[in-house]
Amino acid sequence: MEKEYNISINITPKAFEGLARQGMLCHQGICELCDDALAAALPGEKARVCVALAPDEDKNYLNIAVSDWGCGMELAALTNALQLGSAPLSNDRLNEHGYGLNNALACLSGGTGDWCIYTRSQPGPYFKVSGPFDLNMTVKMTDTIDLPEGLNLQWPDPSTVIHVRVPMAIARTLQRQGNRKLSDLVTLRMWLIEHLGVAYRGYLELDPVTLEPSAKIAVTVGQSSLLVPPIPVPMMMGRTEKLEVELGGQVVPVTYVHGTLDKSKQEHLVQGSKARFYYQCSQPTQGIDIRLGKRVIATAQLGEVWHREDGSPLCRHNSYNDFVGELILPELPRGVLATLNNKTGIDRNDPDWDVVFEALTDFPPQKNAAAFSEDELKKKWMKILKAANPEDDVTSEISVWPTGTRVDVVDKGANGKCDIYELKTRKAEPQDLYQLRMYWDGLVLEGIQPTRGILLTAKYNDAIREMAEQMNSLPTPNLPDGTPSEPYRFLLATHQEKELSV
Ligand SMILES: Nc1ncnc2c1ncn2[C@@H]1O[C@H](COP(=O)(O)OP(=O)(O)O)[C@@H](O)[C@H]1O
Ligand SMILES: [Mg+2]
Repeated sequence: MEKEYNISINITPKAFEGLARQGMLCHQGICELCDDALAAALPGEKARVCVALAPDEDKNYLNIAVSDWGCGMELAALTNALQLGSAPLSNDRLNEHGYGLNNALACLSGGTGDWCIYTRSQPGPYFKVSGPFDLNMTVKMTDTIDLPEGLNLQWPDPSTVIHVRVPMAIARTLQRQGNRKLSDLVTLRMWLIEHLGVAYRGYLELDPVTLEPSAKIAVTVGQSSLLVPPIPVPMMMGRTEKLEVELGGQVVPVTYVHGTLDKSKQEHLVQGSKARFYYQCSQPTQGIDIRLGKRVIATAQLGEVWHREDGSPLCRHNSYNDFVGELILPELPRGVLATLNNKTGIDRNDPDWDVVFEALTDFPPQKNAAAFSEDELKKKWMKILKAANPEDDVTSEISVWPTGTRVDVVDKGANGKCDIYELKTRKAEPQDLYQLRMYWDGLVLEGIQPTRGILLTAKYNDAIREMAEQMNSLPTPNLPDGTPSEPYRFLLATHQEKELSV
């Protein structure tokens, strides 16, 4: 007969049901399991984690298994792990409160207790324990991992596998509220990859020294497997502030990067497709990410960090929609800069956070960041033109058409030179070229002959270049006296070529 052990658990079925009602979202539960999987990595080895998704016989459910190839657990460790508020056995900051496993099993199963764990700390049989939770539970020894059909764990011989049968209503919370209709696994996987790529970007990025990531996370749907890419904050015109704060008697270096949401990066952020949960240029997603070591522990932080003069938290407002940033703190011991017990955010009652956020009061979030950075760009470009041609008249004051539409920059010089510029912080779009044409035609109608029309952008593609060439052979309007004007001369240039990178 197979060996069995009885273990005591400090949580009643009723309490476990209560844990399921904390409003945790599906990805928050999965991240708790991934945190444990990453923390279990063997020293000197790259962590491997697989999140497997498979349909259930009942279409109102979905099967999820999180596996790792780390240290695994022997019976005492497993017994400890199942206690609510278990003492962490690792030194890893990812093990923080001792609630993660219970919270994840409760929230993902919807309180039903439809879960099971296989784990072993050395080759040989696994310990297997299945839900629901009870004060006394049975741990069985088994040589085989028995999972619902279709769950592909990606690599053989895992150390720990945690399987939960998840109600579809919970799985759908991977998607943004108001957008929670879809339930096909390939779509849900894209949402999950976005969450994992943001939360674990620090583990998935290449280490500057070893040129290796410190973890690999695969998400499988049957035979199809995708590796989670690191998802950075889609930012342009970024600025870096190096700060120091005193925490627990120690001076801790802090990096704060802030800038403008880069919409062209945003569109290709998740394996070539656009991000759909984070960085949406919207009130719920505006603000900064907070990263502790390699783990992003909070996103879209605004009022948590900055306050108004009367001390109340800064309100979300559309004028902050394109404000993004990342606050990067080093790996700190447990207890410093705490997160909430269910790790759904930072613990704002921990006074350490006041110390950190105090340092950010000198850098309040930029309102209308996109317009602001375009203005900065314009000023910088005018300075460069003026330095190169001190005799020229460089201005942003010229307007055309009865609407008084302003030309971004006009550079007037000797020999009839009248170059006009359209500047954009992002990549070139077709309408930018037409805006230049509007300036050009407007000037001609006022009797001013432009010499060149230059579109200055972060980058441009071949199609835009071809479009500019075609536009150059279009007919131009006549001057006010009825004589024909000169042909168009539209050109493209990048910030980099013009040494305009900010
Ligand atoms: N996949 C795993 N591999 C090895 N040990 C694990 C794993 N998952 C959980 N544990 C153990 O269970 C303990 C409790 O986990 P958890 O409830 O998430 O709390 P915390 O992570 O805050 O310590 C961990 O500290 C760890 O010792
Ligand atoms: Mg944990």
